[in-house]
Amino acid sequence: MDYTTILFEVTDGICTITINRPDKLNALNKTVFDELDNAMDRVYADDSIKGVIITGQGTKAFVAGADISEFLSVPEEKGAQLADRGQQVFFKIEDCPKPVIAAVNGFALGGGCELAMACHLRIASNNARFGQPEVNLGLIPGYGGTQRLTALIGKGKAMELMLTGAMIGADQALNLGLVNEVTTPEELIEKTTSMLKVIMSKSPVAVAKAIKAVNAFNHTRGGFAEETRLFGEAFRSEDMKEGTAAFLEKRAANFPGK
Ligand code: COA
Repeated sequence: MDYTTILFEVTDGICTITINRPDKLNALNKTVFDELDNAMDRVYADDSIKGVIITGQGTKAFVAGADISEFLSVPEEKGAQLADRGQQVFFKIEDCPKPVIAAVNGFALGGGCELAMACHLRIASNNARFGQPEVNLGLIPGYGGTQRLTALIGKGKAMELMLTGAMIGADQALNLGLVNEVTTPEELIEKTTSMLKVIMSKSPVAVAKAIKAVNAFNHTRGGFAEETRLFGEAFRSEDMKEGTAAFLEKRAANFPGK
């Protein structure tokens, strides 16, 4: 598969996957999901790959969310399917037996925050901004955010971020346990690589089993299915149509509440 929206490089056993749509702040469209899915299949299959870094192209964004402009072309009854597709690709990242670290180099919003949370660890540059702003669009997180954010930072703070749509900076994300380390933009890849190398120096058998065991914690995945269903309902709402139109027209939304 020739990639048009991601970069895939392997050096010294480390595979770096870079979401590569900087003019759209690396927003996740259907092609990005297809390519990420394929890239993760390669990671699983290639014995020379021992660890993975996921990052975003440019200095402004890791990933600014799902591609909102693409929502317009998705029939309203297909919202749940859209969420499910994203969830399945992100499960492939979360379940990867090799360590996967997100190097968060700017905005990590909506699907971007969800992508970072699907990785095993997160290192952020000090200009990173995190949030789940779907409520501004008449939507809810659909790629596992309601589940993983709650698991990472607790129900109270997760609820606050999802209901207010507020963005937080890297230091607050560190205090909340959303990220593991904060560094400068210049040192982000170096720090991420050195943490990955520590993990890669350990027993691959033990690392794979630790990932699997941690993922089994409180994790029936029933909540993910509920998230998909509720995302599908929100996707059919008039609020969603108004919220996405308002974003694309660069104006404030006036929600009808239906
Ligand atoms: N989907 C599609 N396009 C997006 C996008 C997204 N999630 N996020 C940014 N873009 C596009 C913008 O439409 C703009 O495109 P244009 O130049 O063709 O108009 C370009 O990326 C640059 O973004 P812009 O909004 O001009 O940058 P900014 O610095 O003013 O604002 C953000 C940055 C991140 C605050 C703002 O882009 C934003 O709020 N994005 C959406 C975040 C979101 O709601 N994510 C959840 C989606 S479910």
